[in-house]
Amino acid sequence: MKRSGLKIAVVGATGAVGKEMIQLLEKRNFPFSELLLFSSPRSLGKKVTCAGKTWSVGVLESGCFDGVDYAFFDASDEISKEWVPVARAAGVCVIDSSGTYRMNAEVPLIVPEVNGHILKKLSATGSVSGALLAGPNCTTVQLVMALKPLHDRFGLERVVVSTYQAVSGAGAAAMDELTSQITTVMSGGKAVAKILKHPIAFNCIPQIGSFLAGDDEGSTSEEKKVILETRKILDLPNLAVACTAVRVPALACHSESVLCEFKNVPDVAGAREALRAFPGVTVTDSPKDFAYPMNLANAHGDAVDVGRIRKDPSSPRGLQFWVVSDNLRKGAALNAIQIAEALLA
Ligand SMILES: NC(=O)c1ccc[n+]([C@@H]2O[C@H](COP(=O)([O-])OP(=O)(O)OC[C@H]3O[C@@H](n4cnc5c(N)ncnc54)[C@H](OP(=O)(O)O)[C@@H]3O)[C@@H](O)[C@H]2O)c1
Repeated sequence: MKRSGLKIAVVGATGAVGKEMIQLLEKRNFPFSELLLFSSPRSLGKKVTCAGKTWSVGVLESGCFDGVDYAFFDASDEISKEWVPVARAAGVCVIDSSGTYRMNAEVPLIVPEVNGHILKKLSATGSVSGALLAGPNCTTVQLVMALKPLHDRFGLERVVVSTYQAVSGAGAAAMDELTSQITTVMSGGKAVAKILKHPIAFNCIPQIGSFLAGDDEGSTSEEKKVILETRKILDLPNLAVACTAVRVPALACHSESVLCEFKNVPDVAGAREALRAFPGVTVTDSPKDFAYPMNLANAHGDAVDVGRIRKDPSSPRGLQFWVVSDNLRKGAALNAIQIAEALLA
């Protein structure tokens, strides 16, 4: 398997995740020698600097994946549906951040710290040519990072999570919408929603994704993703999970209030110890110093930060905590790069 001088591609290079991806490729010294960047025709010809060189943004077209070793797809469900098969047919190892393939039984859904053993098996075959790995929804990534060490310690039985999700989770246009609405409202105007369903400046919106029908009536597609993806990554197909997903007027980082019930009676000190020992997780939890995870402290960082860890007053087997992570980093770009790094290791 080739491990240096790689030719790599980023699809969606000018988006919120794509920009983060390009910064991280440089910061983490990812071993590439050639970088192909793809976006919509709107961005054709834009120049991007990475690893000391300037690269031009192109568009997806026939033959564009020829000779590419790894492609990171950070565009949209539709683009992944159309172009991931094309890339795979050209022998490219694809790491897809969209929602298109996550729940496909043939496609591993990966958070390397949690189920990286799947990657070890794959790289042991000696070739990842044409392979497809999916990265989870940003909300799921930070949740499973906190759940895994607690599950290993106490045996997870039930999870109730409420999310407080930054606008960057809805892409670059939603970030622009929040900042321009704040300016409009502060100068006495009225915020008008274009990307999100309602004005987001000075507001919280208890809807992310679309409302579902049938047995899931009343739930949203985002909430369903969190439930299904959490079960798949933790390999706990019957885990009881409930989710309420809320968009909040923050630019960076998703926050989550989590309540878990375990087979064994959990203790706070043991939970802190297990979380601290887990790679990629930090614990910020000193109530007397007013220290707990927050957006501003974690924006542009790599960690999944857990705090406010406490017993559940309503159940001896319950534990409550608060999790914050940068959705564009560990929730998307960093996780995808870590998948590729693990395959190369
Ligand atoms: N945002 C998050 O926190 C997050 C977390 C996990 C996963 N994801 C997933 O990551 C993907 C990107 O999300 P995002 O938030 O970065 O969205 P975004 O900011 O809206 O960026 C979308 C990107 O796709 C490009 N694009 C649009 N049409 C295209 C086309 N026809 N061909 C090639 N590229 C095209 C856009 O190019 P232009 O700039 O030219 O329009 C832009 O670079 C989505 O699948 C999303 O579900 C996002």
